[in-house]
Amino acid sequence: MGPTNSLVSWIDERFPLTSTFKQHLSEYYAPKNFNFWYFFGALSLLVLVIQIVTGIFLTMHYKADADQAFASVEYIMRDVPWGWLIRYVHSTGASMFFLVVYLHMFRALLYGSYRKPRELLWILGMLIYLCLMAEAFFGYLLPWGQMSYWGAQVIVNLFAAVPFLGPDLAVWIRGDYVVSDATLNRFFAFHVIAVPLVLLGLVAAHLIALHEVGSNNPDGIEIKKKKDLATGVPLDGIPFHPYYTVKDLFGVAVFLAVFTSIVFFAPEMGGYFLEHNNFVPADPLKTPAHIAPVWYFTPFYSILRAVPPMLGSQFPGVLAMGAAVVIMFLLPWLDRSPVKSIRYRGSLYKAALALFVVAFLVLGYLGTKPTNVWGQFGPWLGGADRATVVARVFTIVYFLFFVLMPWYTRVDKTRPEPERVTS
Ligand code: HEM
Repeated sequence: MGPTNSLVSWIDERFPLTSTFKQHLSEYYAPKNFNFWYFFGALSLLVLVIQIVTGIFLTMHYKADADQAFASVEYIMRDVPWGWLIRYVHSTGASMFFLVVYLHMFRALLYGSYRKPRELLWILGMLIYLCLMAEAFFGYLLPWGQMSYWGAQVIVNLFAAVPFLGPDLAVWIRGDYVVSDATLNRFFAFHVIAVPLVLLGLVAAHLIALHEVGSNNPDGIEIKKKKDLATGVPLDGIPFHPYYTVKDLFGVAVFLAVFTSIVFFAPEMGGYFLEHNNFVPADPLKTPAHIAPVWYFTPFYSILRAVPPMLGSQFPGVLAMGAAVVIMFLLPWLDRSPVKSIRYRGSLYKAALALFVVAFLVLGYLGTKPTNVWGQFGPWLGGADRATVVARVFTIVYFLFFVLMPWYTRVDKTRPEPERVTS
C-alpha cells in the first residue's frame, strides 16, 4: 500500500472520508441528460466561495465607521496591493450571483424541479434567495456612498409604513432616527457574519435535500423509478464524478472567462453593477434626484412603485412587493400539471411562462428608471406617468402567472412523458 492509500485508510478508520466521497460523488447517480441549465447550481456554489474569499480580504482593510468607510474603500482601490482587483471581483460577484441564481431558478420553472418530491429543496432555495437579498442589501450600505445611504434610507423607511408598529420598527432597525454610524455598524455585522452563516447552513441543507431526492432533469421524469435489478443503479443515471465534475469544470471555465472580462473591462457595467452616484460620499443633507436599487432588485422595486398609496400610506406597495417574493414559495402547490417538464406541457404554460419572463424583465428595466421616464398620458388618463401604467399592467401579469397557475396547468393539453430520458 502506497503512502496516499495508507493515509486514506488511516482517515477512513476515524472519519467517513471514502464512503462520503462515494455516496455523494462517485456513486451518486445523476440523470444522464443534464443540459446547459444544469450548470448554474455548481456556478452558484463557485460564486459563493468567491464572495466569501474576497470578502475576507476586503474586511482586512475596510473600516466600518461612518467617518472612514468611504475613504477606506478608496484606499482599497488605490493603495492596497491588488485591492482594486479584490473589490471589483466582490462587486462583480454580487451581480453575477444574482444572475446565476435567477437562471438557476428559471431552470426550475422550465422543468418543474420544484414539484414533488422536491418541494423542500425548492423552499430551501427560496430561503437562500431571501438571505441573498438581505446579504446584498446590507453589503450595499458599506461603501457609504450616496446610493448606499439613500437606498438604505428608502428601504428602511418601507418598514415605517407597517401600521401601528412601523415607525418604532424603523428606528429599531436603524438604531437611530436616520441611517447613521450605528446603522453602518450593525449592517456590517449582518453582512460579514450573521447572514453568511445562515446562508452556508441553508446551502448545506439544500444539497442534503437534493441528494436525498436526486436531481430532476430536462424530461422531468424520475430516474429512480427504473433501476438495474442486479445493481440497484438507475438505468438513466451516471456517476456524478467524474462525468459531471468534468462537465461542470467546463462551465466554470466559460463562466470565469465572462466574469474576468467584466472585472477587467467593465466592472461598473455602465452603472448597473456599481452605480455612478455611489462614487459620491454619503451626504445626509443631499437627497439624490433619482434613487434606484441595483438591477437585481428592480423588478420588485417596480412593483412597490406601481401600487398606489392608500390613505397616504405606502403599505399596499410594500405588501405587494413582499407578496411578489413570498408567492414563489407556493409554486409546488400551485402547479397542477400532470407533467413536470416544459417539453411535455401545452401552449398555455409556455405562453404563461413567456409572459412572466417579459413581465419580470420589463419591471426590472422600469425599476432602474424614474417613473416619468416615458412622460405622461394626457388628461384622459389623469395625466398618469406612462411608465407607471406599464408597470401596473406587468405587475398584474406577474401575479396572474401564479394566481391562475392552478387553472391553466390543469386545463393545458400536455403530451405523455417518455418512459426513459431522451438525450
Ligand atoms: C447559493 C445559492 C445556491 C446554491 C449554491 C445552489 C446549489 C445547487 C446545486 C449545486 C444544485 C444541483 C445542480 C443543479 O441542479 O444545478 C441545485 C439544485 C436545485 N436548486 Fe439550488 N442553489 C442555490 C440557490 C437556489 C435557489 C435560490 C433556488 C430556488 C428558489 C434553488 C432551487 C433548486 C432546485 C429546485 C434544484 C433541483 C433542480 C433539478 O434537479 O432540476 N436553488 N442547487
